Amino acid sequence: MSAAEPGRPGPPGRPGEVLVSFREVSKVFRTGSGRAAREVRAVDDVTLDVHRGEIFGVIGYSGAGKSTLVRLINGLEPVTSGSLTVAGVEVAGRTETELAPVRRDIGMIFQQFNLFTSRTVAGNVEYPLKRAGWDKERRRERVAELLEFVGLASRAGNYPEQLSGGQKQRVGIARALATSPELLLADESTSALDPETTQEVLQLLQRVNRELGITIVIITHEMDVVRTIADRVAVMQDGRVVEHGPTVDIFARPRTETARRFVSSVMHTVPDERDLERLRRAHRGRLVIVDVGDGIDIGGPLSDGAAHGVRFTIAYGGISVLQEQSFGSLTLELTGPDPAVQDVVEQLARVTEVREVAA
Ligand SMILES: Nc1ncnc2c1ncn2[C@@H]1O[C@H](COP(=O)(O)OP(=O)(O)O)[C@@H](O)[C@H]1O
Ligand SMILES: [Mg+2]
Repeated sequence: MSAAEPGRPGPPGRPGEVLVSFREVSKVFRTGSGRAAREVRAVDDVTLDVHRGEIFGVIGYSGAGKSTLVRLINGLEPVTSGSLTVAGVEVAGRTETELAPVRRDIGMIFQQFNLFTSRTVAGNVEYPLKRAGWDKERRRERVAELLEFVGLASRAGNYPEQLSGGQKQRVGIARALATSPELLLADESTSALDPETTQEVLQLLQRVNRELGITIVIITHEMDVVRTIADRVAVMQDGRVVEHGPTVDIFARPRTETARRFVSSVMHTVPDERDLERLRRAHRGRLVIVDVGDGIDIGGPLSDGAAHGVRFTIAYGGISVLQEQSFGSLTLELTGPDPAVQDVVEQLARVTEVREVAA
């Protein structure tokens, strides 16, 4: 993928231009009636922009409202309140007929692939083209081109049951791309796949984004998916977007407990409670956790400390690279004369985030 970096081929439209805009959007499901009536606020007051040309991740635990959020975009679920626009067109309050042109510009893929089992691979990919009224010759060419793109040219005549999960999802992607949408919605599109196949499908989605300039909204409960391909990410909890921003920023500085838990599910650089207990037992000096990464120089404070009899040991930590930026965290044990150790801690706090581990 590095060949396409850093200046990715410009997707159509200006960079940073808004493609999908949520303004105070809520979706309330009402079920039952009378005393059994129940309201579920599946999406709760969400304000968010998806930019043209980006891969936008939405992460959250089961029931957070992720699927509902994307189903609002293509009008599969009507918005209860607020404003939602796609390419400048208001989606809220539209009838099915009015939604048709908006939907033509949006493709979708699913966790369970949702292929037609009675149609061949080519037949599945051809289906939306038939519906859009393409003639036979153009359909044949387009299907061949799409199958080539997803690497399944030799499988055109197979039926879905003859394919692996990864291949099925490639068919799903080819079908979703058939009518050249500007936006692709992917709902847990790799959740049914093993880790290796997941990476293959994510790389294909990255090509869809970079080579075809298609904006992607990808929903997942796996932080690894976000880490691998999302430019920006929104963290959802109880229908709300509790945090959103560039993926790198969320990884480097998660602000909510939910985001911290997702980040620590893939970044094992910060000790958890059990690790801390063990560290406290094994180290008698002062323990501090410091953020490290590009542009953070902890060497200065540490060598100044050495001159005043302060020694340090790295007790825990790790550094990793995400989208060309390094970041991570180190847990340091500092030993030496108390005032000198205190001085080092204060100097470190001037160059980075420092958290003290209570003794
Ligand atoms: N059609 C529906 N009718 C009633 N409740 C629903 C419906 N769809 C989703 N919900 C509820 O909305 C909440 C969010 O669901 P969903 O968007 O599927 O979350 P996620 O995709 O994050 O797992 C859940 O409490 C779910 O039970
Ligand atoms: Mg879901």
